[in-house]
Amino acid sequence: MDSHDEFYITTPIYYVNDKPHIGHAYSTIVADTLARWREARGEHVVFSTGVDENSQKTVDAAKKHDEEIHAYVDRLADVWATTWSKLGISNTDFIRTTEERHIEVVKDIWGRMEAAGDIYKGQYEGLYCKGHEAFMKEDELTPDGLCPEHKVAPELVTEENYFFRLSNYQQKLLEFYETHGEFVAPAHRFNEVRSFVENGLEDISFSREKKEWGIPVPNDPNQIIYVWADALVNYITIVGVEGWEEHPADVHVMAKDIVRFHAVIWPAMLMSAGLPLPGQIVSTGFLTMDGTKMSKSLGNVVDPLDLAARYGNDGMRYFLLREVSFGDDGDFSEAKMKERYNADLANGLGNFAARVLTLTEKDGGALKDGILDGDFHITIETMQRSVYAKLKEYKFPDALAAIWAAISFGDRYVNDRKVWEIKDDATRAVALFNLVSLLDAVATELVPFLPEAAKKLRAAIVHEDGALKTKKPEILFPRIK
Ligand code: MSP
Repeated sequence: MDSHDEFYITTPIYYVNDKPHIGHAYSTIVADTLARWREARGEHVVFSTGVDENSQKTVDAAKKHDEEIHAYVDRLADVWATTWSKLGISNTDFIRTTEERHIEVVKDIWGRMEAAGDIYKGQYEGLYCKGHEAFMKEDELTPDGLCPEHKVAPELVTEENYFFRLSNYQQKLLEFYETHGEFVAPAHRFNEVRSFVENGLEDISFSREKKEWGIPVPNDPNQIIYVWADALVNYITIVGVEGWEEHPADVHVMAKDIVRFHAVIWPAMLMSAGLPLPGQIVSTGFLTMDGTKMSKSLGNVVDPLDLAARYGNDGMRYFLLREVSFGDDGDFSEAKMKERYNADLANGLGNFAARVLTLTEKDGGALKDGILDGDFHITIETMQRSVYAKLKEYKFPDALAAIWAAISFGDRYVNDRKVWEIKDDATRAVALFNLVSLLDAVATELVPFLPEAAKKLRAAIVHEDGALKTKKPEILFPRIK
């Protein structure tokens, strides 16, 4: 990532075959944290999320719910948009792939790839997994012929389809990877992508024979555009073709399941269409339950709204960002979440903030402006430097640990100096100035991670005429039994 004053970040657009679970929330929260971080640094942020509606899964889900398909997608799109807004996600746009603005761009990009000679008609026979919305090779299946992720047998499909000449792009992709050493993070995922491409690329089927649902191929009403060839283009739709030419996405956030689509097919499509490539594909691992990927089809999902109702939006964010190490799978456990909440939020941050603000409250809330003690100065600077360095590498747990190290330092200071017992006004004023300055710096660093708590803290610490004033403290994180 370089710094420009504009930052464009995306989440995947999620299928509307069901409502969000915390696996989806995790990707969205990771993107939100990065978006808020950039915004706090003064950048203009475009942060998009949305829903992928033109999939066969949508048709199946509407049937299952016995709903008319348009009514079904409207209802589900609303469920997704409302969930993100309840969780306090700061997306600046929400895209639905059935929107006219999107259909236009998809057709435009298709036309460009066709004009480049990369779209042709051919016969296809293959094993199609609806869960993946992709063809699978026999050697990718379990011994009994099931998709290992979705645990269903893929369907044998024989059709005349349009193909995308992906094979044309093997060399060009490898050259691009060579010169863009951080195109995929973490690095081990990039290695997987590279060796996949080195092993050779086959052309891929980019349309399906006319179904009742999807975006028609321009000039051939008997075919609809393959859902991935449609969905990936959403990232262009958000900013428009010209907007993308000026400033393509800086970061696409997702889990490892769809890295190949984003790091191989997507850049090849953009090359074909003569458009610039995104900055970075950032992949998380999976959230699991007892070691198995959380997914609706496996029936082991947790509802993020349910968790947020009990732990707060910040409480849920804290657990996910603090516990799941970037790029790795992370096992969800509510017991662990409660433990983190009580130890780090109710006791750690909440208690420190309450102590400091209660002490200053007793002194009327006004603070004598002073000069920070050396060790406070160093603590604050170390925290700021490591949060920056860790976030640049998406190491959310380490960034949070750096903030909590500063909180512990403050707590120790209160205890060691017995600040509540200091009788001498001047000495107490210096101690309080140091502590409030530290809390203020902590609140600033917390903005991307715990936006609601940060906001409350920053409202309690006011900068007035160059001096600090504090207001009555508010309980940030009530203990949970
Ligand atoms: N519609 C496609 C994406 C198109 S993007 C141009 C799709 N949709 S999805 O609903 O299946 O979402 C997949 C994404 O949801 C993952 O890449 C990840 O961001 C998120 N997750 C879904 N389950 C997850 C976990 N159990 N753990 C972590 N992330 C999860 O693929």
